Amino acid sequence: MKSVIIYKGKYGATRQYAEWLGAALHIPIKTPEELSEADIKMYDFIIMGSSVYIGKLLIREWIKRYAGVLKNKKVILFVVCGSGKAQEKILKQNIPEGLFESLHIFFLPGRLIQSKLSWKDRFMLRMGAMLVKDTESKKFMLQDRDNVKEENINAIVSVSSDVLEADSISL
Ligand SMILES: Cc1cc2nc3c(=O)[nH]c(=O)nc-3n(C[C@H](O)[C@H](O)[C@H](O)COP(=O)(O)O)c2cc1C
Repeated sequence: MKSVIIYKGKYGATRQYAEWLGAALHIPIKTPEELSEADIKMYDFIIMGSSVYIGKLLIREWIKRYAGVLKNKKVILFVVCGSGKAQEKILKQNIPEGLFESLHIFFLPGRLIQSKLSWKDRFMLRMGAMLVKDTESKKFMLQDRDNVKEENINAIVSVSSDVLEADSISL
């Protein structure tokens, strides 16, 4: 079974998860820019990973573009984000209708270190926090945190191993 991990992130959290998954499953990892449409069509099993910025998956446009191709494959999506809230909303706003049912989706906790952010992202985060009324949520949004841990990939490894194993049995 030809398999690949395709990820898009900004400050390393998504890339770190992709690297751990690649090592655990012995699957190559790529960025969307590294793959042509012909490359994508060649894969049977695709693990996609993306972080979330202001409610948007960074890989959103890529998923939209290749939704037709992805629909016929075994696909897992892992979403790296700051909070456990609004997960349903994130999916509704980022995943094309027709693809939603055929995806296996996981949410993984991310990392936010203010001093590492670009000026623009720090600004966006502050603006976002200003619009939030609840003081606790506001504080949470601006707090540094690092919840990127290798054990968080266990469930994805387990489901992926089943997919890979099922294929090797059927051959
Ligand atoms: C400007 C900015 C906006 C963000 N917006 C969201 C958001 O809407 N929802 C969310 O859950 N996390 C949000 N986050 C948190 C990121 O998704 C999280 O830090 C993630 O780990 C980043 O992963 P990366 O380094 O792979 O890009 C935001 C972070 C920044 C800096």
